[in-house]
Amino acid sequence: MKKKTALITGISGQDGAYLAEFLLKKKYKIVGTDRRSARMNNWRLERLGIEKKIIFEEMELGETFEIERVFRKYKFDEVYNLAAQSFVGSSFGSPLNTSNITGLGVLRILETIRNINPKIKFYQASSSEMFGDVLEKTQTEKTPFNPQSPYAISKLFGHYMSVNYRNSYNIFTVSGILFNHESPLRGEEFVTRKIVKGLVKILNNDLNFLELGNLEAKRDWGYAKEYVEAMWKMIQQKKPKDYIICTGKTYSIKEFINYCIDHLKMNTKWIGKGLNTKLINLETNKVIIKINPKYFRPSEVNYLKGSFKKAKSNLNWIPKTSLKELVKIMLNEEFKYYNKKN
Ligand code: NAP
Ligand code: GDD
Repeated sequence: MKKKTALITGISGQDGAYLAEFLLKKKYKIVGTDRRSARMNNWRLERLGIEKKIIFEEMELGETFEIERVFRKYKFDEVYNLAAQSFVGSSFGSPLNTSNITGLGVLRILETIRNINPKIKFYQASSSEMFGDVLEKTQTEKTPFNPQSPYAISKLFGHYMSVNYRNSYNIFTVSGILFNHESPLRGEEFVTRKIVKGLVKILNNDLNFLELGNLEAKRDWGYAKEYVEAMWKMIQQKKPKDYIICTGKTYSIKEFINYCIDHLKMNTKWIGKGLNTKLINLETNKVIIKINPKYFRPSEVNYLKGSFKKAKSNLNWIPKTSLKELVKIMLNEEFKYYNKKN
């Protein structure tokens, strides 16, 4: 059988790395694109030991010319569009850049597919952030969207463009509406990795305390390594459809911290309320977590919890890793790499 060729945009990110690892096992030829700035920053691919198995191309999502050049150079069977300005917090400070990359970037790729080879199958990385201030307690593929940030609005634009190119031009497009997924390869700006890394540093006397924002927000957190398989499964279906990928469980940031503390067997106590909430290490009597209002967002998504029913029945996909296990995986690998560095 002919070897399939896949393009992964955002190859230097968390999902790009795991998806590349997964597709390599399926014997795909992989072209991975990054921006010039990311060229020296392939630590995730290095950690997975796969950086030499990928063909790298530069493809800034703001530049139609670069996108067309890459699409003319290779004959892609599948395109996974994972590249984005993906940090919700930053999207408030750079709404125009976020709209250009996370929103219009999707349209640039779809137009290129329509003009160069409409037979290419296209995966769009849509997001549970699009549900925003949620209109249903458990979000399904039918729940109306209610985005709360420039990031979520840009994702919604990309999502609907993907749906529209399927309906208008019969292009095989799928959007995975993925809920938060974490791993040891998660970027340090996101709250789970920030907490895990911060606690490891505190235990090694490398940091006095960690500053966080809203601890009451709840997220449906899964393991990224499992979620990339769902992306591939969506693309292998006979009919293109959109799917939610999630765990169906939700936990607050505070609960995530408590799982970390339990795993580390630390003796701690929460004190205070609201902005004065603090976590004290009872062995040293020192504050190790406190609130800094600068991490609050102008408009917050307070609660996310999805249903993976459609993915289970059509894709035979279910989440396998509990939050407790995910915390263990993240902490163990954080210690491993911290100890290697020092
Ligand atoms: P990530 O780690 O932040 O990776 C994003 C990737 O996009 C990086 O490779 C980044 O390159 C690249 N990128 C940023 N700006 C670009 C530009 N102007 N041109 C080309 N590439 C650019 O994100 P992730 O967690 O892997 O998520 C993958 C995708 O899924 C994103 O689209 C994200 O919005 C979406 N998503 C993620 C989650 C989640 O929980 N992880 C949930 C739902 C949806 P640099 O290395 O240069 O920054
Ligand atoms: N990043 C961050 N840093 N978030 C904090 C902090 C902090 O210090 N303190 C509290 N939070 C809260 C945020 O306000 C938010 O409610 C929650 O922790 C999760 O924040 P992030 O980890 O930054 O993720 P996110 O939910 O905003 O966005 C992620 O998930 C989306 C899917 O729902 C990103 O991966 C997006 O790209 C993705 O689409």
